[in-house]
Amino acid sequence: MTIHHLRRDYRYGSLTRDELPSDPIALFQTWFSELRGADLPEWFEPNAMTVATHKSTGGAACRIVLLKEVEPDGFLFFTNYQSSKGMEIDADGRVALGFYWPILDRQVRVEGIAERVDPEISERYFRSRPRSSQLSANVSPQSEVIEDDSLLQRLVDELDAKLAGADVPRPDHWGGYRVRPISIEFWQGRPSRLHDRFRYTKQTIAQGMGNEPIKSGSWKLERLGP
Ligand SMILES: Cc1cc2nc3c(=O)[nH]c(=O)nc-3n(C[C@H](O)[C@H](O)[C@H](O)COP(=O)(O)O)c2cc1C
Repeated sequence: MTIHHLRRDYRYGSLTRDELPSDPIALFQTWFSELRGADLPEWFEPNAMTVATHKSTGGAACRIVLLKEVEPDGFLFFTNYQSSKGMEIDADGRVALGFYWPILDRQVRVEGIAERVDPEISERYFRSRPRSSQLSANVSPQSEVIEDDSLLQRLVDELDAKLAGADVPRPDHWGGYRVRPISIEFWQGRPSRLHDRFRYTKQTIAQGMGNEPIKSGSWKLERLGP
């Protein structure tokens, strides 16, 4: 299999500093609306994102999850707190998120700190899920080895029978994480690999370059080499 010849030129658009808002979450929202408005194939999940974590053994791990909320202070997703990613995040909240939206020739990269959301938020989202997903969340030992191929279906059937139509409880080990961004980079593919990259970095230092105070929470905007 040869893949080295696979290559695409990116022509959808460009990014200039003047058009960028001071708040990267606002730009993320704009880009996400534009994505939703694009002619997306039915199978494409616009809210799929990569989450990268630190493993306790020193390596890195990544996987896809679904973004479920964008708030002024973070990106929310839901998972099993006892999964590999859950334990990795609870031990070291430094994570990275990655989005690739090929229909717009765009990538967004987020680096930040993940923390568990309030249980009420997890509860509200859990209640909005289909019953079958609620049952699965209860029985799936996410990330653990399963020796018996029919185990999960059996556990789902048993729990469903036991509940006899009653609401499925949210297990304590299932809930959301909020990733509070420290930096967010927007990448717009351009012809001939002269892509536009702009990175916002959250300012937490008290003083700016000329000793002028920088408001905590403001963002520094920089162009990066493609
Ligand atoms: C399109 C897609 C969406 C997914 N969404 C989620 C999700 O929202 N939450 C989740 O826990 N796992 C989700 N998964 C499964 C994860 O990629 C992963 O297999 C699982 O969470 C276990 O990861 P871990 O062992 O690193 O914890 C999704 C996978 C795909 C391909």
